[in-house]
Amino acid sequence: MLTYDMLAVIFLINIVNADIYTVENATRLFNFFKTKYNKMYKNKLEEKNSLRNFIDNLNKVAALNEKVKGNDTLYVINRYADMDPEDFDQHYAISLKTYENEGKVDLTNIGGQDILRNTMEKIRNKVEKDEDYSESIELYDLGNANNLYKQYMEKFGKKNATKKYDRTVHFYRFVKTLVDINRNHFKGNYTIALDDNADIVKEPYEYFY
Ligand SMILES: *[C@@H]1O[C@H](CO)[C@@H](O)[C@H](O)[C@H]1NC(C)=O
Ligand SMILES: *[C@@H]1O[C@H](CO)[C@@H](O)[C@H](O)[C@H]1NC(C)=O
Ligand SMILES: *[C@@H]1O[C@H](CO)[C@@H](O)[C@H](O)[C@H]1NC(C)=O
Ligand SMILES: *[C@@H]1O[C@H](CO)[C@@H](O)[C@H](O)[C@H]1NC(C)=O
Repeated sequence: MLTYDMLAVIFLINIVNADIYTVENATRLFNFFKTKYNKMYKNKLEEKNSLRNFIDNLNKVAALNEKVKGNDTLYVINRYADMDPEDFDQHYAISLKTYENEGKVDLTNIGGQDILRNTMEKIRNKVEKDEDYSESIELYDLGNANNLYKQYMEKFGKKNATKKYDRTVHFYRFVKTLVDINRNHFKGNYTIALDDNADIVKEPYEYFY
């Protein structure tokens, strides 16, 4: 039987066999990534966190590639490689993949050390094909839902329901609307917006997500 510890060891071995990226040797790739995807960070802290996520994702992809070595397949990081999927899910209720499987790739000229350089080439090619991509996805941070709801109530002149239960239901429905909007925005669909109905429960129980 595989125990958790054994899995952890297997995972470690995979990491150890793969190229390991550190701040020193990932920063150049990160700069390249930022330029290619027009990444802008609000401040130094956000940039630092993004670099940390980027390194985690690089190492994840390097380990995956090590695992499928000899199988003509290649994992590459994608434009979300500066994000932490768990964190992103927590804030925006969207599951995110930070890498993709390119599928069958001719790897005859690629040695172990070069797999990620090749990955960067792949990204370069992908981005050039993807010119209309805009980095400005507007998403609502669910961690800030209380404030957003307050602003929303003010904007639309909404009154608090008298019963606590009703207040809670309206708030949950509002959060569900934020999630709906996030998921649509993420797909590039900007047709739904926060309007007067954002906290109106449409069907019984339709305030869960
Ligand atoms: C990055 O630097 C570390 C520490 O010096 C080294 O072990 C690792 O092999 C380097 N990775 C790559 C991809 O060059
Ligand atoms: C390589 O591909 C073969 C055939 O699809 C599969 O059986 C095998 O598990 C793969 N090996 C790895 C390391 O992914
Ligand atoms: C609704 O109640 C909350 C606290 O329960 C309060 O902070 C907020 O100002 C109230 N909003 C309105 C529009 O009365
Ligand atoms: C955008 O989202 C709205 C609301 O969910 C939906 O009715 C519409 O079909 C979507 N449009 C596209 C192009 O997906």
